[in-house]
Amino acid sequence: MKFTLGAMAAFALSTAAMASEVAPEAVEFTDDGVVASLTGTAGDPVAGAEAFKNRKDGNCLACHANSDMSGELFHGDVGPSLDGVASRWDEAQLRAIVTNSKKIFTDETIMPGFYSLDVGEHLAEAFVGKTILTAQQVEDVVAYLGTLKD
Ligand code: HEC
Repeated sequence: MKFTLGAMAAFALSTAAMASEVAPEAVEFTDDGVVASLTGTAGDPVAGAEAFKNRKDGNCLACHANSDMSGELFHGDVGPSLDGVASRWDEAQLRAIVTNSKKIFTDETIMPGFYSLDVGEHLAEAFVGKTILTAQQVEDVVAYLGTLKD
């Protein structure tokens, strides 16, 4: 009985969390970027740093150097260095870049859209209908990027 109640409570909690989340296809891009938070919950820069470097999540270091993470082994150079990136782009712009870089750069950018269902045809079937990062992970990564100022 206890187990059932616990499971129901957990279910109720997770549906409540989902309800405030913007679905990937409903994210609103404006000339200023993505102004509204995807979740309504402030991003956590520490969790964001984890998602940033984790190869199964953002894997941002595969393409970007970032001096703040000089302790990590591999830094790619396919994309620009992210040193001081928050001095070049504001929060709404950074949220737009991480959510769906195609909307900010060009359709040809090789940077994945991390909260987009339009991830590219070459992706494994496991990703069809899924986003690479969750909405909250995007907020966390954006909060982390916000700490990278000149
Ligand atoms: C497959 C390579 C690749 C990956 C992975 C990647 N990016 Fe990028 N990123 C790029 C490229 C390339 C650009 C430059 C824009 C362009 O030419 O398409 C870019 C540009 C950016 C910019 C703008 C930088 C500036 O100074 O103008 C930000 C911010 C950014 N990426 C953040 C991220 C974050 C955060 C992640 C991980 C969640 C990530 N990128 C993962 C390739 C990548």
